[in-house]
Amino acid sequence: MKLTVIGCGYLGATHAACMAELGHDVLGVDVDEAKVERLTAGEVPFFEPGLQDILRRNIASGRLSFTTDHRAAAAHASVHFLGVGTPQEPRGHAADLGHVNAAIDALVPVLRGDHLIIGKSTVPVGTATGLAQRIAVLAADGVAVELAWSPEFLREGFAVEDTLTPDRIVVGTDPAGTTSSAVPVIRDIYREILETGVPLIETDWATAELVKVSANAFLATKISFINAISELCEIVGADVSTLADAIGHDARIGRRFLNAGLGFGGGCLPKDIRAFTARADELGAHRTLGFLREVDAINMRRRTAMVDLVSDAVGGDVLGRNIAVLGAAFKPESDDVRDSPALSVAGQLALRGASVTVFDPKALENSRRTYPMLAYASSGADACDRADAVVVATEWAEFVHMSPDELDEVVRAKVIVDGRRCLDPQMWLDAGWQYHAIGGPVTGRRRERHTANAHVVGHAAQTLRG
Ligand code: UDX
Repeated sequence: MKLTVIGCGYLGATHAACMAELGHDVLGVDVDEAKVERLTAGEVPFFEPGLQDILRRNIASGRLSFTTDHRAAAAHASVHFLGVGTPQEPRGHAADLGHVNAAIDALVPVLRGDHLIIGKSTVPVGTATGLAQRIAVLAADGVAVELAWSPEFLREGFAVEDTLTPDRIVVGTDPAGTTSSAVPVIRDIYREILETGVPLIETDWATAELVKVSANAFLATKISFINAISELCEIVGADVSTLADAIGHDARIGRRFLNAGLGFGGGCLPKDIRAFTARADELGAHRTLGFLREVDAINMRRRTAMVDLVSDAVGGDVLGRNIAVLGAAFKPESDDVRDSPALSVAGQLALRGASVTVFDPKALENSRRTYPMLAYASSGADACDRADAVVVATEWAEFVHMSPDELDEVVRAKVIVDGRRCLDPQMWLDAGWQYHAIGGPVTGRRRERHTANAHVVGHAAQTLRG
């Protein structure tokens, strides 16, 4: 099928490449000329395992190209995915729909004939209803444009895998609509995926919009739940990681997303819970999502708790101390530093007078841009040069697996602070290091669990094709 994908950020670029991988003829559209140039040259403007291969392969086969021209998009296809960003408003908690509206405003007036727009961006409930009205005003006479909403659930770092082997596909259509082409079209687009047994959930606009924000709110709540428990564990000397293992064995709870530590960040969970709460407020349901404010507060407390822990670990004050921060991305396998807990901790330590040196395997460039006042090193060992404490802030495999003897001769003091509870404390203690973990003591060998959780990503397409 001929498709376009409007917006070529994390979501859109991945979606465009994966749709081409499924055999469709895809035109990606973005207003950012530099981004379009890079994508056209087969370069992914961000780190996403496996995406570059798929991008290059499909550009070479002629099934994937990029443009800044909405007229070209209108002429290329009658099915258009909308994957632009919905960031937090600059002066509030609501979602900023500026990019969504701008994409509709650019595309709809130039459409001719019958078209289907499939929204994928995360939007507040009610957005599709408003956009349908906007589309009706903008569409030329005789042009029919249907709007469907099919939220995207991909995780950064697993974006290709999540797009090609999703848990489910949700499609919401106009509840007042009499005829809809959206579901049969979506069935055609995803035929190969649906044949593997992936469920297709058909619903109305509002439910589809709510599915996405509810999923993210649930995940954020799960993380803050375990982090709240870890605050108690810290007081009584219990091990929250063992506790998570134990409660996670209950299939109703499940072990995933119960890793206590520095908490959640990134471009989705923090802004999505805020936008969800703001939308509930707008709808008059002021108390309904009040608990998400607490989820947010628990999460933000982790960062200050971590800074306090580092201060304690170096004797009460970080002023004038050298602190190495290993990890800057909001999670491993990503170069994304949006609302990164790691960088927030690094920044707060610097504000308290520490000399902070950061290393991250992929996120250095983005970090430098966001926090230019911090020092950056080209390797973990470099960052640890004469450090009074080493802080593990993102659980990249290379930090989880580093051994104390790599750093013994480099640091000034053998002090390690584990912000992700991902290290094997016994190994560090045996090597003569002081070991501190956010959320209290760690018993048992934690490293094995993180090793078991490590994924090799990027070959989902080949797997799908058998
Ligand atoms: C999230 C959702 O998972 C995804 O479905 C949605 O489409 C977009 O938002 P993403 O932001 O890529 O994806 O990251 P995710 O893997 O969900 O992790 C979010 C944050 O939670 C990270 O900072 C991570 O370190 C943290 N986290 C995750 C924890 O602190 N503990 C955990 O147990 C799991």
